[in-house]
Amino acid sequence: MSDPILQVRGLHKNFGPLHVLRGIDLAVEPGERIAIIGGSGSGKSTLLRCLNFMEMPTAGSITVDGRRIGKVRTDSRGAEQVTYPESELCAVRERLGMVFQQFNLFPHMTVLENTMEGLVTVKRVARAEARQRAAAELARVGLSDKVDVYPSRLSGGQQQRVAIARALAMEPEILLFDEPTSSLDPELVGEVLRVIRTLAEEGRTMLLVTHELGFAYHFATKVIFLADGRFHEVGTPDDVLKHPREERTQAFLARFTEFSF
Ligand SMILES: Nc1ncnc2c1ncn2[C@@H]1O[C@H](COP(=O)(O)OP(=O)(O)OP(=O)(O)O)[C@@H](O)[C@H]1O
Ligand SMILES: [Mg+2]
Repeated sequence: MSDPILQVRGLHKNFGPLHVLRGIDLAVEPGERIAIIGGSGSGKSTLLRCLNFMEMPTAGSITVDGRRIGKVRTDSRGAEQVTYPESELCAVRERLGMVFQQFNLFPHMTVLENTMEGLVTVKRVARAEARQRAAAELARVGLSDKVDVYPSRLSGGQQQRVAIARALAMEPEILLFDEPTSSLDPELVGEVLRVIRTLAEEGRTMLLVTHELGFAYHFATKVIFLADGRFHEVGTPDDVLKHPREERTQAFLARFTEFSF
């Protein structure tokens, strides 16, 4: 086993009185592909958002490449207080690229400008080189013919592929996908899943929140069923999706297969 790139210990997240994540432990090794499934409101997005610090954890630790994120001090009562300096969080976000359900492209920028934006403003890459690297990532997702188009002219599937190219351009060590196909018309889901499958074949490390259980079965090296802010069941795709041991996992999966034939 190699050392984990990402290690999460005892992660909790509260929104006021709402205790969403209730003690998450997770180690992600290079090349692992983890599918996270669970009901609406179970905390899947919150978990991904905590991993790249779009939300600050209420408690627990997140360690990237052996280095704990945040400045830790112990108060007079012995309790741990953690602050998260913005400079440190920017560095983490570069290493954990996120793809959202709603693409989040800039409408006033072309496809190429969207894809190179992070390289120029965050990584300080010269514009000419950024343009080249962005064009290469757009070619990878099959959008070389759309570089000069604005997002409003693209289908949802194409917009999502731009969002993936934009994430890839930053050369992240881990890709986080939050239901990347949930807002797409059914006939556009396949083109996005195919891109994600290619990334899997390249051996990239990925966390994918998804309701596409058939895809998760073939894609994932590990499946996690999240319920009530905890990992209710964890295992291989075969364990969790085909032979779930927990009643709650069985009930969740039954809802998905109810209308299949
Ligand atoms: N910024 C926030 N402020 C307050 N409550 C929040 C916030 N973000 C999420 N929540 C609440 O936390 C809980 C978990 O939300 P989350 O979005 O993580 O669920 P999810 O598993 O991603 O659901 P879905 O499958 O519908 O996307 C929900 O009850 C949600 O209303
Ligand atoms: Mg969500």
